[in-house]
Amino acid sequence: MAGNKTLTILKPDVVEQNAIGPVLTQITAHDFRIRAMRYTKLSDEQARGFYEIHKDKSFFENLIKFMTSGPVVLAILEKDNAVEDFRKLIGPTDSTKAEQGTIRHSYGTDIERNAVHGSDSDENAERECNFFFSYSERY
Ligand code: CDP
Ligand code: MG
Repeated sequence: MAGNKTLTILKPDVVEQNAIGPVLTQITAHDFRIRAMRYTKLSDEQARGFYEIHKDKSFFENLIKFMTSGPVVLAILEKDNAVEDFRKLIGPTDSTKAEQGTIRHSYGTDIERNAVHGSDSDENAERECNFFFSYSERY
């Protein structure tokens, strides 16, 4: 059975566009419930730890620079089939290939500055939610 939670990050480009409100509105309009949320700026160490699976990729250093370039919003979202449904709502990694109606189409620029993160499996969702939030911060 598919899990019911996923971790999202509204990336620095969304905050820069002053679009936290509209993005959260789109998320909640699609029946995701916010179970934890924090406005913060990622440290270099947090960004490297979070994206550890990509540490050998050519884009890694630029990704870390981007993700630490300004504040972000971290949130745990809950819904049936959360991981798959949220990936559908955000669109593909490359914003230029995202369909109209997706968050990356509306707020992303390219394959790096793509507005939002969404966990890619239930296993990674579990790891990512635990990476940023303790159980006492979830409601
Ligand atoms: O975020 P998503 O799961 O769609 O993509 P990913 O393959 O897990 O990559 C993580 C993040 O690295 C992306 O969201 C982009 O911000 C960035 N990235 C990049 O800068 N250049 C690439 N060629 C691929 C990803
Ligand atoms: Mg990913």
